[in-house]
Amino acid sequence: IQSTITLNNGTVIPQIGLGVFQTPDGDVTVNAVQTALEAGYRHIDTAMIYRNEASVGEGIRRSSVPRGDIFLTTKLWNDDIRVHRAKDAFQESLDRLGVDYVDLYLIHWPADGWQRAWDDMQEIYASGRAKTIGVSNFHEHHLDELLSNSDVTPAADQIESSPQFPNQALIDAVHAKGIAVEAWSPLGGTGGNLLSSPDLARIGAKYGKSPAQVVIRWHIQRGVVVLPKSTHADRIRQNLDVFDFMLSDEDMARVSALATGVRNGSDPDDFAF
Ligand code: A2P
Repeated sequence: IQSTITLNNGTVIPQIGLGVFQTPDGDVTVNAVQTALEAGYRHIDTAMIYRNEASVGEGIRRSSVPRGDIFLTTKLWNDDIRVHRAKDAFQESLDRLGVDYVDLYLIHWPADGWQRAWDDMQEIYASGRAKTIGVSNFHEHHLDELLSNSDVTPAADQIESSPQFPNQALIDAVHAKGIAVEAWSPLGGTGGNLLSSPDLARIGAKYGKSPAQVVIRWHIQRGVVVLPKSTHADRIRQNLDVFDFMLSDEDMARVSALATGVRNGSDPDDFAF
């Protein structure tokens, strides 16, 4: 049975979602989404800048899963934040996805102008076309600024987290504010070498699980939402098959000990795109 987390407005989010960053638009994305939904996923995480929203929508429609059973996230891109076109950008995302609401709409990065975008997102939320709203790549200081100027607490902050860069202090700070954490690049990202770690193989062997399954389970037990990406049907299925075992405290610590302190992506205080 899949685990869920209840967000701060009562909305329930499945703890594993299919990530589609760098999943090419067209059949690859359509098939990944359809495969995931038919394998039991009920949560898909995309973004305008992934340029595959239309294919995500197509994958949803080709599956036999009703829209209402699916938790769908997309994100407002930096260029739209900077020129204050959150509402138009949101409508364009809905149109590409072919849906009349999303379950979660996120500010993708704290780009200049995000404060005004957050005001627009509160209006979108009030309209019911986004069931929840949140942020991504926000540090604690961004959240503090937002919270002192907002009526709505973000439901989630989607940030980089993997065994190599657990980001645990930020996770703890975000949780303390009643905000859920979602982990991007949870498996160390594309081109990473995390999954070839002999430590993960050794731990996995004890439970009859792969390194990827160990890492996904580690995220689940830390109470974060985890968004593994794969374009391969067997891996998509495997990545959801993590609810029949539990890592011991010792093994949780062994996974956490893989931390290098090196990010896979950009520091939100330092990004330039
Ligand atoms: P692929 O899409 O070719 O399967 P992240 O989710 O951290 O961004 O990392 C995803 C990377 O890990 C992708 O390169 C993906 O490649 C690979 N990956 C995803 N699931 C698995 C798995 N179960 N076993 C091995 N590699 C995986």
